[in-house]
Amino acid sequence: MDHLLSEEQIMLRDMVRKFATEEIEPVASENEQNHRYPENIIKEAGELGLMGVAYPDEYGGSGMDFVSYMLTIEELSRACASTGVIVSAHCSLTCDPIFRFGTEEQKQKYLPSMLSGEKIGAFSLSESNAGSDAGNTQTTAVKKGDKWILNGSKLWATNGRQAEVFVLIASTDPGKGTRGVSTFIVEANTPGYSVGKVESKLGIRSTSTTEIVLDNVELPESALLGEVNKGFKVSMVTLDGGRIGIAAQALGIARASIEDAIKYAKSREQFGKPIASFQAIQWMIADMWCQYNSAWMLTWNASRMKDAGLNYGQESAMAKLVASEAAMFCANKCIQIHGGNGYTTEYKAERYYRDAKITEIYEGTSEIQRLVIARNLLK
Ligand code: CAA
Repeated sequence: MDHLLSEEQIMLRDMVRKFATEEIEPVASENEQNHRYPENIIKEAGELGLMGVAYPDEYGGSGMDFVSYMLTIEELSRACASTGVIVSAHCSLTCDPIFRFGTEEQKQKYLPSMLSGEKIGAFSLSESNAGSDAGNTQTTAVKKGDKWILNGSKLWATNGRQAEVFVLIASTDPGKGTRGVSTFIVEANTPGYSVGKVESKLGIRSTSTTEIVLDNVELPESALLGEVNKGFKVSMVTLDGGRIGIAAQALGIARASIEDAIKYAKSREQFGKPIASFQAIQWMIADMWCQYNSAWMLTWNASRMKDAGLNYGQESAMAKLVASEAAMFCANKCIQIHGGNGYTTEYKAERYYRDAKITEIYEGTSEIQRLVIARNLLK
């Protein structure tokens, strides 16, 4: 797809590919099996400017476009899907709402240390009864004098353990649903803030996914991000961008599955020939490649629309839906081509399969993506 990319985008992609191949890929499986957060890799990613690819230099970003960011997440995720989502949750879900909705003071306060990777960010919209129904937030933020007092518990926050800066949603006008929630920036060292349950997961085990408990957390007025009771829109706009990040993560998993399947099919011999010479295997590889390319085009298109300042909510939903299904398809076929070996932890195919599944769930399930697409078509 190089013909669709600028020289600058190709240079960045090749740099990230080299970094991912040399530094991330060799340790990804072991880290993932041992639930180990790749601290050094994230530090190096920060030094390479990868924790702030699509943000302006003035806030410490790398000053590139969103297509470059998509390519970065794809390349990181090809080597390690956990690393891909650590960077994506940090950039798309946390830096992005601060950059888009923050006051100049908030941007100056948080972005430089976040875009350099010195501080990790996390975002939390979900709660036990507010998953797909994100407007059903029960966590409350009550104004007392010039302070906000937050109480409740947020769930499934990627980077929950490492994050020093949290963007989260709380109800400021209970009973008003999506029109009564607001967004806050919470620093992890605030009294009353704690990391609760750490989830044990099927895949992406190098990431932490946690509950965040807020027990009378007292915040200054300046912690409000955007306007009071307009937090649902902040979340939706944030997720529109985040879903492109997850689509890019899914592309990385799909490509890793295709590359490993081809390598294995060429080297594995049965009936006296490499299995790549059998049509059954060739068709699987052709189907994988078509699915990956379709998903890549949709993700690239959504990224281009974001760069052009157009509305891209529907396109990002399409990209995430198709890319996550492509990742599942490719990872499944990758195991099938590896046969018995694919079911063991000796090969990476099983990791790709476990990692792929979450892309159909977080930042909006495939059913929610279909709902977003259909609502746009039917309005
Ligand atoms: N951009 C701007 N505004 C938007 C919007 C968008 N993309 N989508 C909706 N809105 C606005 C609507 O226009 C409406 O505005 P008004 O109040 O002015 O009328 C308001 O938001 C409410 O919209 P809806 O009536 O459509 O709301 P809904 O309750 O029907 O929900 C939904 C819509 C699409 C289902 C939404 O709830 C949703 O996206 N759910 C999934 C949530 C999700 O993705 N969660 C994942 C959390 S992140 C995560 O996974 C953690 C991690 O760390 C990775």
